[in-house]
Amino acid sequence: MVKEHISVEPRIIWQDSANAVGQEAARIVADQLACKPDSSIVFPTGKTPLPLYEALRGMTQIDWSSSQLFQLDEYLPPESGKLPEYETFADFMHTQLWEHVDGQKHYIKDYLQAPATYEQMVSRNNGPDLVILGIGSNGHVAFNEPGSQPDSPTRVINLAPETLRSNFAGLSPDKCPHQAMTLGLKAILQAKKVLLLATGVAKHDILAKAFNPSMPPSLDCPASWLKLHPNTLILTDFQVSFQVD
Ligand code: GLP
Repeated sequence: MVKEHISVEPRIIWQDSANAVGQEAARIVADQLACKPDSSIVFPTGKTPLPLYEALRGMTQIDWSSSQLFQLDEYLPPESGKLPEYETFADFMHTQLWEHVDGQKHYIKDYLQAPATYEQMVSRNNGPDLVILGIGSNGHVAFNEPGSQPDSPTRVINLAPETLRSNFAGLSPDKCPHQAMTLGLKAILQAKKVLLLATGVAKHDILAKAFNPSMPPSLDCPASWLKLHPNTLILTDFQVSFQVD
């Protein structure tokens, strides 16, 4: 049973390109670290945040030295034991940002046997300062797949069929992961600030579904639980039109 919740409508700000979304997101990260140098920040993978990481790599004035940097999620290796053909999220984060900046880096794969410990580290000091998210085509955030409750813990989860199709199109199934470890919605909703990035028109419909003001949050679209969060900002490179029922 899903309990009654009080929803708030997140702010949605439109930028004129995916690069502009990345630059605005980078400015928000820079402001966060300028205001609170020891901020805890959780970073996403995917194509959407690439302009953010490119912008951050260019902002050499940022002082990352006291920061606490976390990953949102990571695939578990394929059960077949065959070498994966995909890039791990640890490698992605390292290459895109973490090898270029100071700060204490926390890789979620190091806590596979202790997800609660990872969550405690992310959530110490009353929740992470900033969680940055993308959105999956089925509405997942991190790997909180449809069916995830708003108080779901950090855990290992089976990847939804749609996620496997969209993330591993063309790869042989025995070289693909079928599970991932994800930060839970509970820790995400504890963040002091959430920044959700959505670029490319392919993300329009799922975003419009998740944040339709006339629809309550629901289990079938995990991103919609962000409506329970009092400080979520969504940056897009498209105008969002909501269907009014
Ligand atoms: C993966 C990640 C999500 C990410 C999503 C969208 O499934 N677990 O955190 O938001 O991909 O990726 P992209 O930005 O490539 O569309």
